[in-house]
Amino acid sequence: MSVVMINLSPRNVIYPGIGSDMMTDVDSIIRGSVLATANGPGPLTGKAMREIGTIDDPAIAVEDGHIVDIGPASDIGSEYSGRVIDLDGCTLVPGFVDPHTHALFAGTRADEVVMRQEGWSYLEVLKAGGGILRTMRAVREATDGELIMETLLRLDRMLSHGTTTAEIKTGYDLRPEGEVRLLEVINSIKHPMTIVPTFLGAHAVPPEYDDPSAYVDCLIEVLPEAANLARFCDVFCEDGVFDVEVSRRLLEAAIDAGMGVKMHADEIEPIGGAGLAASLGARSAEHLLAASDGDLKAMADAGVVAVLLPGTSYVLMKGKYADARKMIEMEIPVALATDINPNCWMESMQMVMSLAAYQMKMHPDECLTAATLNAAHALDLSERTGSLEVGKWADIVAIDAPDHMHIPYRFGSNHVRAVIKMGEVVVDRSRTLCD
Ligand code: NIG
Ligand code: FE
Repeated sequence: MSVVMINLSPRNVIYPGIGSDMMTDVDSIIRGSVLATANGPGPLTGKAMREIGTIDDPAIAVEDGHIVDIGPASDIGSEYSGRVIDLDGCTLVPGFVDPHTHALFAGTRADEVVMRQEGWSYLEVLKAGGGILRTMRAVREATDGELIMETLLRLDRMLSHGTTTAEIKTGYDLRPEGEVRLLEVINSIKHPMTIVPTFLGAHAVPPEYDDPSAYVDCLIEVLPEAANLARFCDVFCEDGVFDVEVSRRLLEAAIDAGMGVKMHADEIEPIGGAGLAASLGARSAEHLLAASDGDLKAMADAGVVAVLLPGTSYVLMKGKYADARKMIEMEIPVALATDINPNCWMESMQMVMSLAAYQMKMHPDECLTAATLNAAHALDLSERTGSLEVGKWADIVAIDAPDHMHIPYRFGSNHVRAVIKMGEVVVDRSRTLCD
């Protein structure tokens, strides 16, 4: 058996033939066999989603966690000295951004797999007290410490699969003050990943209220507090959960409180959630399997990111996926996310890209753009991360494959050799067989 050795340990190099006085010292120089990235502060739409720039034998110079130079090693290698992180044989891509997660939860719902096999729909499970309400009970019983420990383990697995930035929503306490407590828990998590907190108090109507509107009134009262702890406010706008008018009231109040807006919109029934997202200038609308053409057009005109969640389609077993091809043709910026939650427990953006390619016919170039630059834009972070460009965070994933096409192509295993977050190696999977 051949074992490929790579060297992730620091070493100072002076490139041969060049005097050291000609060189700029940097914290590190990251090398690989090829680099692939979308470009721009984002987002990309239409045909531009396939514009992936590649560099053979690349070098990335990193200082203070940021990319200061990038290019073929033959051009820029001689200009810098510093620690070399040598990822020979790997494809370097931007760290994945997961812009829609419910990663803060307790308990499991493994038995609901069988319920769905037997024909229960998602909303039927919820109405019977399962689904979100079952996780709500587990979260209300959990201590902050338990929630943090469980979430940290999930974040570790997400990071080891290449995710360097993730959103985390609240939504499983469903009491206004309890939802603010969940925001405090999210903010207290210390992890190498960049975490973006979202307030999803309107995830389901809790048992204490019969009326969605009365519950939303109480959520609106805590919005000023929530706005200090969360970047975005989200709502599950769906038939039988929060209708368009109630959702509008909540989200307008969130905008007044200074928050950005996201929506779970038109996942199951076409009730006009995507149109509401467009009319409010939401940052993103998610799921969108049932969105009408008119509402999608409004999203395109307003520049609302469509965050598609093929993992959820996969676990719901209906064979229905969002129409990514139509959305890309309509020039909507399309992003991908795991939607990790107890119903769809998927931690890998690589797997999401694979589902997007095989089930939604997204081109592998589009998958990469959607999982990086456009996903960063869905979190209002595309000026900092989501592509490998000068000035951005040095968030880099080394994929153990000859090019980025292999990420969706080969599914079910983890292709990550190493993950670099703001210039630091935070995952090193190179030595598992060697040491
Ligand atoms: O995006 N649909 C609402 N929220 C999640 C599911 C949460 C859950 O089932 O616990 C989603 O799919
Ligand atoms: Fe969700």
